[in-house]
Amino acid sequence: MKCRLLLCLGAFLCLCFSTGFPQSGVNLPDPTGSVPYISPREPQPATRIPDLSAQKENTADRMSWWREARFGMFIHWGLYAVPAGEWNGKTEYGEWIRTSAQIPLEVYDQFRTKFNPVNFDADQWAKTARDAGMKYIVITSKHHDGFCMFDTRQTEFNIMTTPFRRDPMKELAEACRKYGLKFCFYHSIMDWHHPDYLPRRDWEKDRSTEGADFDRYVAYMKAQLKELLTNYGDIGVLWFDGEWEQTWNEKYGREIYNYVRSLQPAIIVNNRVGAGRLDMEGLTKAGAFGGDFGTPEQQIPPTGLPGVDWETCMTMNDHWGYNKADTSFKTTREVIHMLADIASKGGNYLLNVGPASSGVFPQRSMDILDGIGKWINVNGESVYGTDASPFKALPWGRCTQKSSPTGTVLYLHVFNWPSDGRVILPGILNVPIEAYMLADPGKKGLKTDRKDDALLVSVPSTAPDQDNSVVVLRLLGKADMTEPPEFKTESDTFVDTVNVVLSSERENVEIRYSFGSEEVKARAKWYAGPVTLGETTTMNARCFRGGKPVSGTSTMVFTKTEPLKAVIPHPEGNTAPEGIKGAGISYDYYEGKWDSLPDFRVLKPVKSGVVPGFDFTPRNQEELFAFDYHGFVLIPVSSAYIFTTGSDDGSCLWIDDRLVVMNDGLHGMTEKSGHISLARGFHKIRVAFFERTGSDVLNVFVKSQWLPRKQLPNDWLFH
Ligand code: GLC
Repeated sequence: MKCRLLLCLGAFLCLCFSTGFPQSGVNLPDPTGSVPYISPREPQPATRIPDLSAQKENTADRMSWWREARFGMFIHWGLYAVPAGEWNGKTEYGEWIRTSAQIPLEVYDQFRTKFNPVNFDADQWAKTARDAGMKYIVITSKHHDGFCMFDTRQTEFNIMTTPFRRDPMKELAEACRKYGLKFCFYHSIMDWHHPDYLPRRDWEKDRSTEGADFDRYVAYMKAQLKELLTNYGDIGVLWFDGEWEQTWNEKYGREIYNYVRSLQPAIIVNNRVGAGRLDMEGLTKAGAFGGDFGTPEQQIPPTGLPGVDWETCMTMNDHWGYNKADTSFKTTREVIHMLADIASKGGNYLLNVGPASSGVFPQRSMDILDGIGKWINVNGESVYGTDASPFKALPWGRCTQKSSPTGTVLYLHVFNWPSDGRVILPGILNVPIEAYMLADPGKKGLKTDRKDDALLVSVPSTAPDQDNSVVVLRLLGKADMTEPPEFKTESDTFVDTVNVVLSSERENVEIRYSFGSEEVKARAKWYAGPVTLGETTTMNARCFRGGKPVSGTSTMVFTKTEPLKAVIPHPEGNTAPEGIKGAGISYDYYEGKWDSLPDFRVLKPVKSGVVPGFDFTPRNQEELFAFDYHGFVLIPVSSAYIFTTGSDDGSCLWIDDRLVVMNDGLHGMTEKSGHISLARGFHKIRVAFFERTGSDVLNVFVKSQWLPRKQLPNDWLFH
C-alpha cells in the first residue's frame, strides 16, 4: 500500500516537472482528458439590438482612428506554436497544422501540457509594436483550432488550463493602453474543436456530428465575444475569420455584427464577419454585407478604391503562426515599400508576427520591425492620416497626400533615387509653395520647374534613405491633375434623345465640348448643363482655364437605336390583351448538380407554376437547384434599357429571345449587365438561374434614362 502511494506521488511529481506545472498543489483541470464545453445560454441583451449592419456609410468618427493609423501589428499566437510547424518529419505547417497534418483532436489537445510561454512579456510586445510605428495590435483570441488564448468560462480548452495559467490578453490589453496602441482581437468563426461546430474536417471520421447544433455554437461564440468585449476594456477592432464554410451566412454575420456593436458601439468589424468576401482579394462582393472594411490577404489591390475602407494583412515570412524552419522573410526594404504602396492606395497595412511558444518574437521579425521603426521615425508623417495618391502611376515610387481646406501636402515616396537629380511628376499643374526633404529638419527648399504638364523637383544627389526617401510638396488648393472631364451619362445608346452630363472634380476649370472630329478648342461650346442629343453623335470634352486647355480630351459615341417592337401592344385601359393570362411569371423548377446553366430542354422540371417575381419560394431544397422563369415584361416607355442580374451562382437574361445578360458559371455574388432598346408594350422575358452550393441570390435590376436603377418590379411581370 505504502509502496503504491509512493509510486503515485513519484508519478505526480514527474508530471509536474515534465509539464512545467506549478507544484503548489492547485487544482488544474486534467489537460489530457477530453475538454468540456459549457453550453451557453443565448446572452440576452437588455434592449433590442438595433440593426446597424444595414447602415451604408461608415461614420467618420468611428473609423477615424483606424484611417489615421494606417499601420498595425497582427499576431498569430496559439497552441500551434508548440509544434512550431513540424509534424512527422515535415516542417511546412503553421497555424493550420491540426488540419493540414491531420492531427487527431486528443493528440492536438496534448499541446496544452507543453504551452508555457514563460518569456512572454506583454510590455515588450506592445513597446516593439509602438517603436515600429504601429498604432494597433490585432491578436488571435481564438484561431481555427478552437484554442482560446484568453480566460474564458465557456470552455476549458483555454490558456488557463496550460502550465502558463496567465491570461496574456489581459496583460497585452494593459500594455497596449500604456503605449497608446488600440488593442484588437482576431476571432475565428471556424472551429475545429467545438462539438457543435459544423462541418467536421473530411478526414475526421471519428468525430461524430450526432447531436451537434450550429445555433448552439453561435450562442457559444456570442458568450465568448461578450467576455472579450467586457473584460479587456475598449477593443479597437474585431477581426473575424474562417467565415467561408457552408454553415456560415450573411444572416449570422449581421447578427454577430450587431451583437458586437451593441456591446461596444464604437468598435470596428472586418468584412469576414459576413459571407460576401471575394476570396484572397478580400474585398466585399457587390450587394453583400461587408462589415466596416475589406481584408485583402497577402496582396495589395492594384489601385486605390475610393470610398472603400480596406486593410491588407500580410506575413513577414510564409506563415502566420510560428514556424521554426521558415526563413523566407521579406526584406525591410520590401516591407517599407509595401507600407508606402498601401498608404498610396488609401489602405491599412496589418503586418504579422508569429511568436514562438516560449513567448518571444522571431529575431528576424524583430529586425524588420526595428528597420521600419527607424524609417517611420523620420517619415511617419508621410503615412499616418494620409489619403490615396492623386497619380495613377509613378515610375519611381508612390505618392500619399493630406488635404486641408486651404491646401494639400504631397508626399513623394522615392524608392529609386534619380541619377540625374530630378524627380518628375507628370500630369499636375500646381506650382508648389514649398518643396523639401522630409528627412531634412531644416526644410531646405528644393527647386521646382515645369516642363509642359510635368513638375520637376531637383533633389540632392544622394538619397537620405536607401529604401524610401520622402519629398514634401506643399500646394495651394487641391492637387490640380490634368484629368479630362468625365461623361456621367450611364448608357451610350438611346431611343429618342439622350441628355449628356459632363463633370470635372477639378477647381477653377470650365468644360468645353465639340462634336465629331472637331478638336475642342478655347472657343468651343461652353458646357453649362446637360446637352440633349437626338441623333447618333460623337462628343468630345476638355477642361480649360483662362482660355488655355488644362487637360486631355475625353470622347464618347452616343448611338441612336431603333427600339425592338413589342410582341403584344401596350394595353389600352385595364383589360389584359390576348396572349396575357395574368400577373406573375411562369417558372420551371429543376434539381441537379451543375457548373453552368443546363440545357433545360433535355431536363424534366420537378415542378412548374407561376410566382409573383424571381424568388425561390417553390424550391424543395436549399442547394442544387435551378429555375427557368419565362413570361412577359411590360415596358411602360420606349427607351434604351440596362438589365442587370446579380447572382450566386450563374444566371442569364433574355428579352425577345435575345441574350441580354450573360452571368453564367459557378461563382459568388456577381453582377453583369446588358443594354437593349425596347418599345412600349409587352416583350418576352426569360431569366434562368442555378444554385450549386454556398449562398443563393438572384436579383434582377432595370435602369434607363428615365428610371434610376431598381429591382425589376413584380408588376411589370406577366405570364
Ligand atoms: C486565413 C487563414 C488563417 C490566417 C488568416 C489571416 O484565412 O485561414 O490561418 O489567420 O487568413 O488573414
